[in-house]
Amino acid sequence: MVGLVGSSFLPLSLVLFSSCLSSVDGLSKVRGVNLGGWLVVEGWIKPSLFDGIPNGDMLDGTQVQIRSVVLNKYVSAANGGGSNVTVDRDLASTWETFRLWRVSENEFQLRCLGGQFLTSKSEDGLILATAKEPLSTETFYIERNGGRVHIKLLNGGYVQATDDHLLISTHQFQPGWDNNLATFELVIVANNLHGDYQLANSYGYEKAKLVLEEHRRSFITASDFDFLSQHGINTVRIPVGWWITQDPYPPSPFIGGSLAALDLAFSWAQSYGLKCIIDLHAAPGSQNGMEHSASRDGSVDWPSPEYISQTLEVIDFLATRYGGHPSLLGIELLNEPSAATVPLDVLVSYYMRGYQIVRNHSSTAYVILCQRIGNADPIELFQAGIGVSNVVVDLHYYNLFDPYFASMNSTQNVEFIYKIRAPQLQALKGVNGPLIFIGEWVNEWDVQNASQYEYQKFGRAQLDVYADATFGWSYWTLKNDRMHWDFEWNIQNKYLLFSKWFIVTEDAKLPAPASTRMGDSPDHHAKITWIPGRLEHPRGHYRDSSSEFIPSPAGCRLRPSL
Ligand SMILES: *[C@@H]1O[C@H](CO)[C@@H](O)[C@H](O)[C@H]1NC(C)=O
Ligand SMILES: *[C@@H]1O[C@H](CO)[C@@H](O)[C@H](O)[C@H]1NC(C)=O
Ligand SMILES: *[C@@H]1O[C@H](CO)[C@@H](O)[C@H](O)[C@H]1NC(C)=O
Ligand SMILES: *[C@@H]1O[C@H](CO)[C@@H](O)[C@H](O)[C@H]1NC(C)=O
Repeated sequence: MVGLVGSSFLPLSLVLFSSCLSSVDGLSKVRGVNLGGWLVVEGWIKPSLFDGIPNGDMLDGTQVQIRSVVLNKYVSAANGGGSNVTVDRDLASTWETFRLWRVSENEFQLRCLGGQFLTSKSEDGLILATAKEPLSTETFYIERNGGRVHIKLLNGGYVQATDDHLLISTHQFQPGWDNNLATFELVIVANNLHGDYQLANSYGYEKAKLVLEEHRRSFITASDFDFLSQHGINTVRIPVGWWITQDPYPPSPFIGGSLAALDLAFSWAQSYGLKCIIDLHAAPGSQNGMEHSASRDGSVDWPSPEYISQTLEVIDFLATRYGGHPSLLGIELLNEPSAATVPLDVLVSYYMRGYQIVRNHSSTAYVILCQRIGNADPIELFQAGIGVSNVVVDLHYYNLFDPYFASMNSTQNVEFIYKIRAPQLQALKGVNGPLIFIGEWVNEWDVQNASQYEYQKFGRAQLDVYADATFGWSYWTLKNDRMHWDFEWNIQNKYLLFSKWFIVTEDAKLPAPASTRMGDSPDHHAKITWIPGRLEHPRGHYRDSSSEFIPSPAGCRLRPSL
């Protein structure tokens, strides 16, 4: 399969890519792939990393609710924390939901909505929701028996509900598993954080080191860089975490070794003619509360002055180390800050300082600014006046993660790319500000059971439209347990027909030049046509010797709808 594309495609691609990367403005652009889930762990990309964790459904950040089996009521921290704890709620919501901090496989601290921890430190043995820092009096053994638990203090007392709906810790005897006041039902509401924090803290240092060393050594290798270079990819975007600066002994629980892996990636990139974008995916404190920013429990603590200066030191470290490397294309200052928690002015000020730091070490490295995720218009960064030269704004385009997409069929998804994404790109280009980078996109959607041909059309639409981004794009992600997200799987199985000489036509009526290869797609709806050189396309054509797609007037009728 690969050979079929490669034989006509490879020689041309090498000519193009060798001339392209020095200037993104003119001839060619970034056609990248993200190395997601490698140096920053994401459990959904490789779930097996977490397989060896005992009590693996109780990781840092797991959300639990606790119900008294006698009273039939949930434990509640009034007002989300700060005062007493009662066992009086029929229904569980935010005050009744606690986030775990894992101390060992059986010892946990319980954090309330407002950030306080449940504590046994009180005059009358009451459990309160008042501790700011979790210490031993805030640590509980949790003994499990099916869905039931006993909650025990480190001093041996068991926590129990009282008849007047409070929570106390005077019970000193091992309770049974029958219906009694010291037996609770533990409801795991969400266990959706599987990042570096959870992995390392749950395994403990020695085991986590073994797991991560093996993962970093084997998940991405030189042969992947070989594969990418042979398939028309010219750049890798490499997510890293802030702890990389303190290799080999980063602060607990993080595990060293990611710096050596990044060094290797740069040397492979040099060998295979690829460029690297270093992407600070996880900043200290977490800039979006998600596992991929290494949040411990979903909190977003990044926009504090201490964390911001620490983050600028990370940028300085990366720019110092790689600023002069021939394979460095750019440094992305921060991935996906949350619009809900990171104010624009704070972010812009950070980006301005980060820009200066990168420029201090390289006059040419692109400085990449990621849009805020959530409720924010990307235009905000185009108008912010950040930096002077080689500034790029990174937009992440997914037809996912929003109920809006849930009911769309394949046609509607493709239309969305042309009717919403394309005009937005045009409008942002019109601002004449930073270059535009679609730094993350994927050939996956909410459509169930779509055919290979539908995926091909969706991928084609995205490649067409994102080719218009002035800096280029990069696919999320190279490898993934979920095959439709996996770039290599998409290429090998022809779900993503990636090549600028490669189009899909429904009726196969395009006249085929002599050098064209034809092949039937497996579902026989489409002929797949490889046409080297200039290509007429229903909605435009590619400029010769460049990946720039020139839409025909008919394809441009849609109005920007920003
Ligand atoms: C718990 O706190 C709530 C709200 O502050 C208050 O109304 C209630 O009386 C308190 N209960 C106990 C037992 O202290
Ligand atoms: C840039 O480098 C100069 C000279 O080393 C230094 O004084 C200045 O603080 C640096 N600026 C930044 C933003 O790091
Ligand atoms: C998708 O939905 C639209 C609007 O309901 C409909 O017109 C179209 O036929 C559907 N297409 C497919 C492929 O189901
Ligand atoms: C998709 O396919 C699966 C397995 O064949 C089936 O169970 C499911 O109902 C299908 N979903 C839709 C929306 O067609």
